[in-house]
Amino acid sequence: MSDHRAEDGLTILPVTGLGEFGPGSDVAAEITAAAPWLESGDVLVVTSKIFSKSEGRMVDAPTDPDERDAFRRKLIDDETVRIVARRNRTLITANRNGLVQAAAGVDGSNVRTDQIALLPLDPDASAAGLRAALAERGLDVAVIVTDTMGRAWRTGQTDVAIGAAGLAVSHSYDGVDDAYGNTLMVTDIAVADELAAAADLVKGKLDGVPVAVVRGYTPIEDGSCARDLVRDLDDDMFRLGVEEALAQGRREAILTRRSVRAFTDDAVPDEVMNASFADALTAPAPHHTHPIRFLWLRDTDRRRTLLDAMSSAWRADLSGDEKTSESIARRVARGRILYDAPELVIPVLTGDGMHTYSDDRRNACENTMFTVAGGAAVSGLLVALSVRGVGSCWVGSTIFAASTVLDVLDLPAHWQPLGAVAIGYPAAEAGLREPAAIDGLVMTL
Ligand SMILES: Cc1cc2nc3c(=O)[nH]c(=O)nc-3n(C[C@H](O)[C@H](O)[C@H](O)COP(=O)(O)O)c2cc1C
Repeated sequence: MSDHRAEDGLTILPVTGLGEFGPGSDVAAEITAAAPWLESGDVLVVTSKIFSKSEGRMVDAPTDPDERDAFRRKLIDDETVRIVARRNRTLITANRNGLVQAAAGVDGSNVRTDQIALLPLDPDASAAGLRAALAERGLDVAVIVTDTMGRAWRTGQTDVAIGAAGLAVSHSYDGVDDAYGNTLMVTDIAVADELAAAADLVKGKLDGVPVAVVRGYTPIEDGSCARDLVRDLDDDMFRLGVEEALAQGRREAILTRRSVRAFTDDAVPDEVMNASFADALTAPAPHHTHPIRFLWLRDTDRRRTLLDAMSSAWRADLSGDEKTSESIARRVARGRILYDAPELVIPVLTGDGMHTYSDDRRNACENTMFTVAGGAAVSGLLVALSVRGVGSCWVGSTIFAASTVLDVLDLPAHWQPLGAVAIGYPAAEAGLREPAAIDGLVMTL
C-alpha cells in the first residue's frame, strides 16, 4: 500500500474576497469568482457556516443576551440526538450525523447578532453538491466541509471534516511494515481531518476567510465520506462522559442481578468476595446493629458434610409428605447447585441486638424486623456480586434445615440460617434485565 504523503510539500492558499453568503447563494460560483486560480487536483476546504447560510440553516434569534441564550439552548435540544456529557453550562452532544461536539454545533459566532447557525443537515451531501457544481465548471476538486471541535483528551480546538467528497477520508496502514520491519496494525490516518486542520491555519476565525485550498496533496476518490470518520457507537469506548457513565452504572446496578444456576469452574477471587461482603454488610439493620453473618464455606469436606446432612433431612421431610421416591429424588437433585457452585455462602441471622419484650407478639415482630434486615443484606450481597460480574442464586434450603445447619457447623442455637447463596461466574452471559412492570405491584393509596 502506498504512502499518502504530499511528497513535494503542500501549499495552503486562503480564498479571500468572498462576499456574504445567504439562502440560495451559488457557492461554486462565488468560490470560482474569488479563486479563479483553483485547479483540478486541489482540495477545497470550506467552513460549514457557508452551507449553513446557503442552505437556509441560519435561524433568526433574539438579540437580548438572556433570550438569545434560552433560544440557543432550545435549538441545541432540537439538534441533539444523544447527550454525551453535561457539566455546568457545557453540553457535549451527538447530532443526527453522529458528530460529537459541544452544543450540537449550534453556533452564535461569525453570524449576525440576530441569528444563530445550525450545522448543515447533511454536510457530506453539501460537499458532494459543491464538488459536482465545480465539476460542471470543469474542475475536479475534492471538497471538505469543516467545523471546529474540541478534543476529549486535549485542550484547545481544531477543525475537523464533517463533510467530504472526492477523497479517501482516511489512509490505512493496516498490515504495512514500517522502515524497521514492524507491522502497523491500527494506524489509520484521518486524512480529511488533517487537511481540515491544516486549512484552518490560513482560514482563521475572525477575518472572514471561510475557504482555503490545499494544493499538493493528491486526493484519491474511493467513495468515502466524512460520516465514515464517525466512530460507531458500539466501538466507542467513551460513548458517555465519566459522570454520565457512573450515573448509568449506578442506575443499572440492581438490573445486573438475576438468579444464576450454571457457573463456570473458575473460583471467585478472595478480593471480589470480600469486597462484595463489605458492600452487603452496609445494609440497613434495626437499632444500629449488625445482626447478619455471612458464613463462607470454603472447606469442601465441611460443605459436603453439611449438604449431605441437609439432603437427608429434606428427604425425611418429603417422605413424610407421601411423595414417590422418584419425585423426592427429582426435588433433592435441584439442590445440586449448592454442591457444584464454586463458592457457597450461608447467611445467618444472629439476632444480636434484638430487643426482648414481655409479650410474644412484640417478640415475634422484633424477629420479623431482624429477618427482613437479613433479607436486605443478602439481597445486597447478590447485587454486590453481580456488579462485579459474579453470578449467584439464593436458595432457601437452610431455612428448612436450620437445626441441621446449626448442628453440623456447630453454631449457637439461636442463630437462624437465611438460606444459602451459590456463587460463581455465570456459564452464560445474560446481560442487563428489564426493570419490572409495576402495574398492580405498586399500589397508590
Ligand atoms: C428466600 C429465597 C429463596 C429461594 N430459594 C430458591 C431455591 O430453593 N432454588 C432456586 O433455584 N431458587 C431459589 N430462589 C430464587 C428464586 O427462584 C428467584 O429469585 C426467582 O425465580 C426470580 O428470579 P431472579 O432471581 O432471576 O429474578 C430463592 C429466592 C429467595 C429470595
